[in-house]
Amino acid sequence: MVTIAVTAEAADEPRVAVSPETVKKLAALGATVRVQTGAGLRSRYSDEALKAAGAEIVASASDAVAGADILLKVRRPSADEIKGLKPGGMAIAMIDPYGDRAGLEQLAQSKASIFSMEFMPRITRAQSMDVLSSQANLAGYKAVVDAASMFDQAMPMMMTAAGTVPAAKVFIMGVGVAGLQAIATARRMGAIVTATDVRPATKEQVASLGAKFIAVEDDEFKQAQTAAGYAKPMSPEYQKKQAELVASHIKTQDIVITTALIPGRPAPRLITAAMVDAMKPGAVIVDLAAERGGNCELTQPGKVVDVKGVRISGPINLAGTVPVNASGLYAKNLLTFLDTMFDKKEKVLKINWDDEIIKGTLVAKDGALVHPSLVEKPA
Ligand code: NAI
Repeated sequence: MVTIAVTAEAADEPRVAVSPETVKKLAALGATVRVQTGAGLRSRYSDEALKAAGAEIVASASDAVAGADILLKVRRPSADEIKGLKPGGMAIAMIDPYGDRAGLEQLAQSKASIFSMEFMPRITRAQSMDVLSSQANLAGYKAVVDAASMFDQAMPMMMTAAGTVPAAKVFIMGVGVAGLQAIATARRMGAIVTATDVRPATKEQVASLGAKFIAVEDDEFKQAQTAAGYAKPMSPEYQKKQAELVASHIKTQDIVITTALIPGRPAPRLITAAMVDAMKPGAVIVDLAAERGGNCELTQPGKVVDVKGVRISGPINLAGTVPVNASGLYAKNLLTFLDTMFDKKEKVLKINWDDEIIKGTLVAKDGALVHPSLVEKPA
């Protein structure tokens, strides 16, 4: 029998790695799921609900991991938790593979196989295991809801006997997973939405959501997408043209949501202090790139700053502010990933170490870091 442990996250992480739905499905795969008491509470999954789905509720993290085959977490587990696993056990989480290197090496020494969900390859088969997408989608939604609640005006146009309330103008910068959901949410709320990106593929997606696309569409723009579907860093010339366009557009906007990221680099700077200065008092910026340095020059991670009446919010872990959905989708991502590791007939673990989703996400094995991006020194 395969034993899966789920422990409670730290105080600043409301999500949990399992849901009643996934407990049931993991049990059907042949696993016993052991959950630390209270682990699901902040996602509104009570011990009773998890138990009813088939989980065994235990008193502590060490009881949950004791002799278990697999540990499931949202954030990087501690060395102590991993130590409790069966020799050669597995830990699967959002490891933050480029953060705290010494800590990661220490985890590797446990000889557990450690998987980083952030490294899930972006291939069709792995779409349902893509935690960056499942969480970014919710963050995009919540950014608009938060912006609307900070904004001193209404979002939709309202024609009333007492006069007309104008629709808010919302500008979305970066149209990946989070940006697309932000557009859809702002449209549902009745805002007039414009959006920009450097990848040409986004132009049609923006239009199909009923928003207007705005971008510097030169030759460089036509080649801004990598084979992996991500944006490339843009040249200083492009950035200058883009800044001019943004500067003139942003002055008229009520709400700006920024989501622009380039893998493995600090977030591109798209909004300067001078641009903020030109915005209307009462305007709101929500910078989803705050954790990676921010798309706006004045963003402070985890804070709302007021610059002459323009409020700039740099939320951290926005998906965690809708923990019920975020945990539900994250747990589902883990379930689909785990499903590939089980021998359905024998109900045992049977991992194909050559599978590209296993190779792509495996960070450490047999006491050493093994992921190419962590082993090779950058040239
Ligand atoms: P991301 O979080 O890395 O970046 C967000 C957005 O910022 C991207 O659209 C990017 O083009 C944009 N950006 C970067 N630099 C910019 C700049 N200077 N100015 C304006 N915008 C800029 O991207 P995300 O959301 O992770 O998705 C990227 C792509 O991957 C999308 O096309 C998405 O559809 C695709 N994807 C594919 C999956 C699969 O096949 N399994 C799963 C998830 C996403």
